Amino acid sequence: MQKQKNKYKMQINTPKQKNHVPVLLQEVVSILKPKNGETYLDLTAGYGGHANEILNKIGFSPLSVLVDRDCNAVRELEILFKKRVTVLHSDFLSASKKLAGEGKTFDLILADIGVSSPHLNESSRGFSIQHNGPLDMRMDQTAALSAYDVVNSYSVEQLEVLLRVYGEEPKAKKIAAILVENRPIETTHELAEIVAQAWPGYSKVHPATRTFQAIRIAVNDELQQLQSSLPLWESLLAPGGRLAVISFHSLEDRIVKRYFNEHSDSYDANLTILTKRPITAGPNELLINPRARSAKLRAVAKIKTNG
Ligand SMILES: C[S@@+](CC[C@H](N)C(=O)[O-])C[C@H]1O[C@@H](n2cnc3c(N)ncnc32)[C@H](O)[C@@H]1O
Repeated sequence: MQKQKNKYKMQINTPKQKNHVPVLLQEVVSILKPKNGETYLDLTAGYGGHANEILNKIGFSPLSVLVDRDCNAVRELEILFKKRVTVLHSDFLSASKKLAGEGKTFDLILADIGVSSPHLNESSRGFSIQHNGPLDMRMDQTAALSAYDVVNSYSVEQLEVLLRVYGEEPKAKKIAAILVENRPIETTHELAEIVAQAWPGYSKVHPATRTFQAIRIAVNDELQQLQSSLPLWESLLAPGGRLAVISFHSLEDRIVKRYFNEHSDSYDANLTILTKRPITAGPNELLINPRARSAKLRAVAKIKTNG
């Protein structure tokens, strides 16, 4: 394990790999309805696509805050926005706790959850089945836990649960056993090939897709981050403010949908739902950005109270 740790020291890359196309951009703008003078909190600002569009409509101010846990993204945001807004290198749960603790509120909040194109395209980040790289998958290059640690040190029982719950993997037991048998597993291609042994024959998506999703969710604590942040986002919304969340898989969408349903449109609720059904990408967007195919946008507004 020690040997591997050195491999995962800060893999910070230059900002030239910023080819991330924001998903559902026009839909986000239509639902958030940014107005001049409003404040904005972007919890997953990435390479600034959504932020740029929205900040150009509301005006730049240090009261608007852009958060990302990825060092490359944060560096890019700092270059792009040059101190005209506040940029935080943080996971969004910690950032939300900090901002709520300071009593801050925002008119517009966006969380475009998940990985960015540079995460998937840069082999050294170890997220991709296609590009061979070290088993890493950390969105935050300074985080302690990597995919290598999960794959090579979790017990067979822990791996089975993780694959079943985070990957919805029907062959969780078999794959967990194969992983343990083949340790140490060092690279994304090794992992993909080992998992494929559990799925002989043809399958439309790569048989390791669910395993990669499950490990990535565990490494980045993705579901807990979302579940614990939603109440904070509600409290960070100013009266009349709008919150939009874009998710990329059903586990996340379920958490968002449930929270919005349980906290809206009843006599004592603070929120009202703006999207009866999730908004998804149309055919034109899918042609230029296939990554948008699984994106689901849900939004709520905070009810203005009289007095
Ligand atoms: C889909 S990209 C966002 C792209 C961005 N909206 C844009 O237009 O460029 C998701 C970003 O969220 C970040 N991210 C994901 N989960 C996070 C979390 N829990 N806390 C902070 N950042 C997170 C990732 O590092 C990544 O840069």
